[in-house]
Amino acid sequence: MKKEALHTLHGGDLDEISRIYGIDKNKILNFSGNVNPLGLPESVKKAIAENTDSAINYPDVAYVSLRDSIAAYTGADREHILVGNGSTELISLFIKTISPKKAVIISPAYSEYLREVEISGGTAELFPLSEDEGFMLSMDKLKAVITEETDLLVICNPNNPTGTYLTCDRIRDILMHCQSTDTYVMIDETYVEFSDKEISAIPLAKTFGNLFVVRGTSKFFACPGLRLGYGICSDSDILDRINERKDPWSVNIFAEIGGRVMFTDKAFIEDTIELISSERKRMYTELRKFENLFVYDTQSNFFLCKILNGKITSARIFEELIKDNILIRDASDFPYLGNRYLRFCILDKKSNTLLLNSLRKCLK
Ligand SMILES: Cc1ncc(COP(=O)(O)O)c(C=O)c1O
Repeated sequence: MKKEALHTLHGGDLDEISRIYGIDKNKILNFSGNVNPLGLPESVKKAIAENTDSAINYPDVAYVSLRDSIAAYTGADREHILVGNGSTELISLFIKTISPKKAVIISPAYSEYLREVEISGGTAELFPLSEDEGFMLSMDKLKAVITEETDLLVICNPNNPTGTYLTCDRIRDILMHCQSTDTYVMIDETYVEFSDKEISAIPLAKTFGNLFVVRGTSKFFACPGLRLGYGICSDSDILDRINERKDPWSVNIFAEIGGRVMFTDKAFIEDTIELISSERKRMYTELRKFENLFVYDTQSNFFLCKILNGKITSARIFEELIKDNILIRDASDFPYLGNRYLRFCILDKKSNTLLLNSLRKCLK
């Protein structure tokens, strides 16, 4: 694989980076994966360690107790909850199930939505968030694009990679418009728990049958290797159709066990919100003082930045930082961004300071 292609790999592809650059993967400070720096909650470690023998059993094929924990955590009805092998399985299943001929994806966005629409034989129109508008969504322009022809609208809230967000009022407005055009809306809330605003669309799922909310646990609960995600939808016909396609037991028993405890770990949840929120403020203040860099405000656990010096590219910054074992995401391959965009997440205070110092040096 070419080095340039490596810069823009999914954030989790540490193995590939470590093979190519010859760095022990445990020594890499991974600012590209968007994973909570507090690591796997102790409660989850303990529950899994105490239940290793459970591997001799199949998980509960209906995942009743896991779905009950998710219901208590999210306020959704257990009957409206599906669990999957990461949010990735649910994004894929939902798109394959409704098989949209025409989808609209608010972009720049996570690349899997487009891939899934294309795999299921549809075409996608990318609806651009404009740099001039600070990557904020223009409701009027969006509504003009969503017509009776549109089968699916995809939104990521807060959005990866811009960190921008939609309030519940705006989401309700979009859902009402999409109801009138018979359009499904999939909202990916992978990063929603990092936000200090109440922006989740889950409370709207009971009213809007055209809404599918998808969430993962990989980022907030720091367990991408466990592979646990969930989806929420109140349309029983859609849920039945998804369940018909879904492989049984796609959530393994350790994800089931871990999932039953993580959502009740109030101390972990509070510690995470406190750390991310204070580091987000501190880093934003620091980054705004940088010469040659524009930082976008964010409601997520990562920042999108634009290099303002025309001679410095994101690929060059990537190469400079990896020499210090610092891995960031060169965001140049996202639609509507270019070769001057970087994305990096918030880790612990010490690591964040290291990144800020190295980045400052590279931009001089
Ligand atoms: C917006 C978004 N959605 C979904 C995923 C996939 O997450 P999971 O590990 O839950 O499949 C990612 C991973 O980076 C992501 O950024």
